[in-house]
Amino acid sequence: MKVSTHRAGSRIVATSVLALLVTLANGHERPLAAQQTAGPSADAAPAVTFTRDVAPILQENCQVCHQPGAIGPMSLMTYDDVRRYARRISRIVEARDMPPYQYDADVGIQKLKEDWRMSDEQIQTIIQWVAAGSPEGDPADMPPPIDWPDPAEFRLAERFGPPDVIIRSDPYDVPAIGQDRWWRPVVPTGITGDRCIMAIETKPSVEGRAVAHHANSSFRVDGESAGRLSEYALGKVGEIVPEGACRKAPANSEVVFDIHYWPNGVDLVDDQVEVGIWLHPEEYEGTYDQTLTLYFLQGGRGYDIPPHGTLMTQGFHTFDTPVRIDSWQPHGHTRLVAMSVEILRKNGRKEMVSMVSNWSALWHHSHLYDDDVAPLLEVGDQLILTGWYDNTENNRYNPDPDQWVGIGDRTADEMSHAWIAVTHLDEQGMERIKAERAARLVSERPGG
Ligand code: HEC
Repeated sequence: MKVSTHRAGSRIVATSVLALLVTLANGHERPLAAQQTAGPSADAAPAVTFTRDVAPILQENCQVCHQPGAIGPMSLMTYDDVRRYARRISRIVEARDMPPYQYDADVGIQKLKEDWRMSDEQIQTIIQWVAAGSPEGDPADMPPPIDWPDPAEFRLAERFGPPDVIIRSDPYDVPAIGQDRWWRPVVPTGITGDRCIMAIETKPSVEGRAVAHHANSSFRVDGESAGRLSEYALGKVGEIVPEGACRKAPANSEVVFDIHYWPNGVDLVDDQVEVGIWLHPEEYEGTYDQTLTLYFLQGGRGYDIPPHGTLMTQGFHTFDTPVRIDSWQPHGHTRLVAMSVEILRKNGRKEMVSMVSNWSALWHHSHLYDDDVAPLLEVGDQLILTGWYDNTENNRYNPDPDQWVGIGDRTADEMSHAWIAVTHLDEQGMERIKAERAARLVSERPGG
């Protein structure tokens, strides 16, 4: 404890000690937020108020999940709701754990589509508001409430309208308590000609959201597998295929589901998972095929993580043609704490593409690279995937640091792969994309 080393006026000492206690309770160092309150005099109007500054941020970033009946554990709709949790909110947004979109802001590609992260300015506004004692402000400043979409609806419907095709898994009963279980029904798509997919969203039932741990789906034609349709794991919204590429939905196909239910205190009867597919018009032909594939890490082997131990593992991947990487989604369970994707160019240059250093198995996102920055790989360039595992008690999600952990399907086992959407190009396609990007850069330059 370094309380005695604080040199400050008596009023500030009091708040500093309080802030220090908060710091200790948090378990790590952070700026002493309460000191920021020492500035304004008592009768000045608060610089940051709930109604004017904070409520709009919560509307935009939090309320979709934090309202009565939604998946968040508490409502953040009114001043009274929010004030009760002010400290926790300040900590959680500063750590970038909420909104739940784990993706490092300081390395790699930052231009993403469907990005849920808040701006530094929004985060600072919340921190300052809590540090200033969470003042309400003028009720007249309160923004009008938002007209929320029905949680039973597809999220991507706001952008693309209702899906063209909805495929429903056969009904399944999941008990409230029990072992992990897997459900693999086969359902016809009803798609009669080859089509290109624009977007896909997998949607568990409203009651099943905390129980459907993952739900993958593949196409099958005449008993033969015909490509991956989609990957879903808790918290994920959807996948969007970039303009010009074609993720194929084959004619006369069936969808093979691979659903992993994880009994979690909810008794589900006749549960169904839905996959919504938005199709391009029949005449649309993407120039290049896009595939979604699982790329392993684990150095080509399995692994075991010892009790109270840590592990790092890597996977290396090359491609037969030039490619564009459209999205990246790490996958692991409770001992995975971080994953990165890098490119090792054939001339030896290494580039960080993306890093998630506060992984949470509760949330899975397909990080969709913006069209202008999606990484391009020549033949001979390598993708390096790296995963870090922590089986010690320092890992806040670790259910039991005394266990050996190996690779397996159960939630208590580990996994080590990433889902990556790749557009398979040729030399010509690669040159065209580079030229288009260069042209856009010039036209965006002031006066250009
Ligand atoms: C996509 C849904 C979603 C969004 C958006 C979201 N939350 Fe959450 N939040 C959850 C869920 C689910 C949990 C409980 C599981 C967990 O902690 O991940 C949670 C947990 C929390 C907790 C921890 C509660 C506790 O028991 O300690 C806080 C605080 C919180 N959220 C605040 C926020 C704030 C503030 C925002 C916006 C800046 C936000 N959340 C945005 C879904 C969401």
